[in-house]
Amino acid sequence: MEYNLKEIDTYAKNWIKAAGENIRSSFPKTLNVTTKSNPNDLVTDIDKGTEQYFIEKIKGTFPNHRILGEEGYGDDITDLTGVVWIIDPIDGTMNFIHQQRNFAISIGIYIDGEGMIGLIYDVVHDELYHCIKGEGVFLNKKAIPKLEASKVNESIIALNATWVAPNKRINHELLIPLVKDVRGTRSYGSAAMEMVYVATGRIDAYLTPRLAPWDIAAGIIMIKELGGKATNLRGEELDMLKENSLFVSKPGLHGDILKNYLKDGKW
Ligand code: IPD
Ligand code: CA
Ligand code: CA
Repeated sequence: MEYNLKEIDTYAKNWIKAAGENIRSSFPKTLNVTTKSNPNDLVTDIDKGTEQYFIEKIKGTFPNHRILGEEGYGDDITDLTGVVWIIDPIDGTMNFIHQQRNFAISIGIYIDGEGMIGLIYDVVHDELYHCIKGEGVFLNKKAIPKLEASKVNESIIALNATWVAPNKRINHELLIPLVKDVRGTRSYGSAAMEMVYVATGRIDAYLTPRLAPWDIAAGIIMIKELGGKATNLRGEELDMLKENSLFVSKPGLHGDILKNYLKDGKW
């Protein structure tokens, strides 16, 4: 099947901007907040409504495209054949509820399993990070430069405390030497935002033990497009059909951290 990437990209950009506008206009209203898997796993009517908005638009325009969405209104996706939109309607819902900032809409569009279009919209700042594979990454209309190597002791890395979650599969003590050696650590509470921070060089790497496909689908396309690395914490390829640990980084730094701190994933 033939695909017109530019056409898909143009629709996606228009829809993500419109969805963002709608989220901004919700700020003065009272949110309807409910919990999902645990008392801290929050969802609002805005998360749900935003995902439903994308599904209605995509199905109305591209009936053959399929959708994997966090809130479950999309398709039951067990393979990545054809065009699959992987959508997180609000990444950083806890920030959205508590802070009304530090969240984003994230959309990765995969064709036969390959990440082709990535969009992350920082709704509050009206900043759209976007890329089509092979054509560079942009922040609104401005091209983002390629990523360059950096040293561990000059790096800021993002981490988050889900390392100590009860069902963790990772010994967080492994990270102590890395935390001691880097220049600084940060935690922003939105995987999509943390990935655009890596893409733009505001931070040098982001490591986290467990994320869903919709958290990472768009960001990894951008980081790879800029010459950065996106793998799991063992340095292996990411799988968009299941949860992954995540390690995204500038080139060079990725290999250094993997070899000297993550022990080539031998933990
Ligand atoms: C969450 C955020 C957060 C990450 C969580 C995700 P959500 O996404 O990306 O930074 O640590 O694992 O679930 O639930 O706000 O879409
Ligand atoms: Ca998310
Ligand atoms: Ca979400």
